[in-house]
Amino acid sequence: MNAPRIDTLPPGVVSLGDHEAHARSVLDASAWAYFAGGAADELSLTDNREAWNVLHLRPRVLRPLAGGHTRVSLLGRELAHPILLAPVAYQRMAHPDGELATACAAAAQQAGLVLSTQASLPLEQIADAVRDDPERGPLWFQLYLQHDKGFNLELLRRAEAAGYEALVLTVDAPCHGARDRERRAGFRLPPGVRAVNLDSLPPRLARPLAPGASGLFDDLLLDAPGWDDVAWLQAQTHLPIILKGILDPEDAREAARLQVGGLIVSNHGGRTLDTSLPTATALPSIVHAVGDSLPVLVDGGIRRGTDVLKAMALGASAVLVGRPYIFGLANAGALGVAHVIRLLRDELEIAMALCGCRTLQDIPPTLLVA
Ligand code: FNR
Ligand code: LAC
Repeated sequence: MNAPRIDTLPPGVVSLGDHEAHARSVLDASAWAYFAGGAADELSLTDNREAWNVLHLRPRVLRPLAGGHTRVSLLGRELAHPILLAPVAYQRMAHPDGELATACAAAAQQAGLVLSTQASLPLEQIADAVRDDPERGPLWFQLYLQHDKGFNLELLRRAEAAGYEALVLTVDAPCHGARDRERRAGFRLPPGVRAVNLDSLPPRLARPLAPGASGLFDDLLLDAPGWDDVAWLQAQTHLPIILKGILDPEDAREAARLQVGGLIVSNHGGRTLDTSLPTATALPSIVHAVGDSLPVLVDGGIRRGTDVLKAMALGASAVLVGRPYIFGLANAGALGVAHVIRLLRDELEIAMALCGCRTLQDIPPTLLVA
């Protein structure tokens, strides 16, 4: 593929919500069900949004604001702002330029990028497009451990060689959630869109099941990752390993004991376990559990600059967004993704100014009222 094609922004789209509404008219019903949907009754999908909404901001006034900025430090780097793009699979289903457009937009807007294991373009192509951009944010690779150890190692070496700077090990999806919306819509990947980085994965042979045995517990989950796999991965690489999908403080403490590089408080955007804890609700207990020993990031339902500010007030080191940039991608390719990031950055600056916060290190402890 060549450089991302130039699209134009749809008129009247001025917020992430507007991007979502417009994307609904752009994507076909199957793709919409996949990108917009959640698990089962989609309560977590709604609750994630609601949990940010119910936190109220108590602004301070007449405080010095000149020279303010959104910079944060994360894993030894200074970032222009704390917004990263969460790993989202199969982006060529949203736009022909797929992950390439996303990566170029992220780099242009200095946002961190987490590429999914299930990306629809080769991980090397994405890294090559942005790696040498001096302004770009962090470049991380999201790992779903597969049933074949040799293949996992091969994928890890490819990510290292391509220049990815951290591994995001997703731990909240040992199996798919109950994706009712996808099933109702008859979701299928369109021809030509697939997880190309898994092309050389040897097929997984189903075990013969004893009568009464469970296809999930007695077959599929025999390959589910455990804490020993985290330790195995750490022994294989010098890259920091960030666990994505942490909601329980005891899991957070176990991760800290293993000295992982960071945590992402996430319920997979409400796509795995429905009615799981909303991430804004879970975040403070995870921050409390690990103290300053690890950076804690959060995703799920972040749609406004005020949500980003609230996450930082609750102790997050940075945030990730998933669906919003996919909707931007569907609407206008790289330009749409860049627009989504820019809108969120601008809203964050406005929220900081109106709350009397010159910097994200300067958030008054009394800012949030539940
Ligand atoms: C995801 N997410 C995800 N996570 C992951 O670790 N690997 C993946 O391949 C995917 N794929 C994926 C596809 C789609 C369509 C969505 C919407 C989400 C989860 C994602 O990284 C993130 O946790 C959520 O999207 C965050 O919630 P919001 O911002 O979408 O509300
Ligand atoms: C999803 C998988 C790919 O949420 O993580 O669709």
